[in-house]
Amino acid sequence: MDKRIVILISGRGSNMEAIVQRCAEQRWPAQVVAVIANKASAGGLGFAAGQGISTAVVEHKAHPSREAFDAELARVIDGFQPDLVVLAGFMRILGAAFVQRYEGRMINIHPSLLPAFPGLHTHRRALQAGCKAVGATVHLVTAELDHGPIVMQSVVPVRPGDDEHTLAARVLATEHVIYPLSVRWFVEGKLAIEDGLVRQTDGASQVLM
Ligand code: GAR
Repeated sequence: MDKRIVILISGRGSNMEAIVQRCAEQRWPAQVVAVIANKASAGGLGFAAGQGISTAVVEHKAHPSREAFDAELARVIDGFQPDLVVLAGFMRILGAAFVQRYEGRMINIHPSLLPAFPGLHTHRRALQAGCKAVGATVHLVTAELDHGPIVMQSVVPVRPGDDEHTLAARVLATEHVIYPLSVRWFVEGKLAIEDGLVRQTDGASQVLM
């Protein structure tokens, strides 16, 4: 049976698009069954609807507390019976109970080489720190923000003259490679967690340089 994937977005949704496209092109044993946003204005909703994927909006602003938002979001997600929940530029902090509910089956991408630079403005902070390389990290979601067992990372050298926008664009291009590949490994059952670390069971490289 195909694995059921639910993707959460807050904006443009280019990572979501990359996952939807690779899933269809490469005939993964999976289906993206829903795309859920926390804002009706999230650009990616239009793409998802155009692909015939169910969409839903759970407005965080319509809920009086984080707990109430998380509970409603979980209710909507569970209606799609996902095997995997994919956070793709979903810019809300999720509470511990929510994270625990999807433990081991929720994955995120963050535009830095974690554990460096969790949170916002990662590229700006990396440039200010004089980093010579930046990148992106796909990880399983744990209660701590932008933390959790690392599935895959991409490494992007910093070039003279780079600013946060040029870096973000080059890192995003790598995100569109490592995120679909990581999700594919998950749905194909090729990720093993050992002592809190993720190993790709075919021995495939977990870094894109
Ligand atoms: C991506 O760069 C993703 O890594 C980042 O938001 C962007 C979403 O772009 N996520 C985070 O910062 C999560 N902490 P997209 O909507 O085009 O996929």
